[in-house]
Amino acid sequence: MEKKRILTGDRPTGKLHIGHYFGSIRKRVEMQNSGDYDMYILIADVQALTDNFNNPEKVRKNVRELLMDYLACGLDPKKVTIYIQSMIPETAELTVYFSNLVTISRLQRNPTVKTEIAQKKELFGESVTYGFLGYPVSQAADIVTFEGELVPAGEDQEPLVEQAREIVRKFNNIYGDVLKEPKIVLSEGKRIKGLDGNEKMGKSLGNAIYLSDSEEEITKKVMSAITDPNRIKKDDLGNPDICMVAYYHKLFSTKEEVDTVCKECKEGKRGCVNCKKQLAKNIIEYLRPIREKRAYYEEHPELVDKILKEGTAKAKKTAEKTMEKVKKAMKLDYFE
Ligand code: TRP
Repeated sequence: MEKKRILTGDRPTGKLHIGHYFGSIRKRVEMQNSGDYDMYILIADVQALTDNFNNPEKVRKNVRELLMDYLACGLDPKKVTIYIQSMIPETAELTVYFSNLVTISRLQRNPTVKTEIAQKKELFGESVTYGFLGYPVSQAADIVTFEGELVPAGEDQEPLVEQAREIVRKFNNIYGDVLKEPKIVLSEGKRIKGLDGNEKMGKSLGNAIYLSDSEEEITKKVMSAITDPNRIKKDDLGNPDICMVAYYHKLFSTKEEVDTVCKECKEGKRGCVNCKKQLAKNIIEYLRPIREKRAYYEEHPELVDKILKEGTAKAKKTAEKTMEKVKKAMKLDYFE
């Protein structure tokens, strides 16, 4: 049986943190290791430029950072194809054709785009760029260039995949039944709260632990995590339900440790400093293999380049095949 094609990826705008890991990366590694899928992972530099066009250096640098994070987490270039979006001109080409199949008002109604525009007032002022408003069209092209059937992603990506489905349906109605309608596979992964208790972990919020953080950085961050604000002295009775340290213990510590930590906290028998030190140690151990693998690639930039180059070359071939079909359907196949 033919393996289902997966298309997914991320914008290279910063290093990955544990929120990304639990939210989506771990799931991708699982899907990779199941052997059931043919997975393409794009490093979406073109999309990153839609809201970082004034900072090309940042995007460029983060292409390699993102790849190193992927590799460190166990994505294996022998099993999946990791490629750079801008190196696949077929995707840009398809974006142009797709742009006839979507209206401006439909883009303006896309909930994800709407939220993001609201957050980017500083960059866009009162009027958003054509490129940013249109990035869902480009994302649809990302998926379709690789005939992606499944798109593992978080809830925030649902409106984007929905929009891709609409574009595909419209394409098939007009030009014939040639494209596959993609489906989102929601990563049932957890959304990890920030060190400050914020619902979201994020770079701009300054509340994240990065996969590449050193042991010292992890310890320092954990020591700053928010604990039960009503607990001032060690023998005050604590409430682990409103303590970020207890929250992370549940992710990184053994069940026995969690039980002990929570019990002693509630009884006022455990100091927060000790509790944090123990947590920091567990996070450091948990992330050790990832950190060490990442350090290895940091020391071997030529390997990182090779992986990018080979993945992109393979992706290019697949993209060419799809475009042949698309152009034929659109009567753009002028010469043999
Ligand atoms: N929009 C995704 C993000 O914000 C990145 C992305 C670009 C993507 N193209 C994609 C994800 C295609 C899935 C499929 O990180």
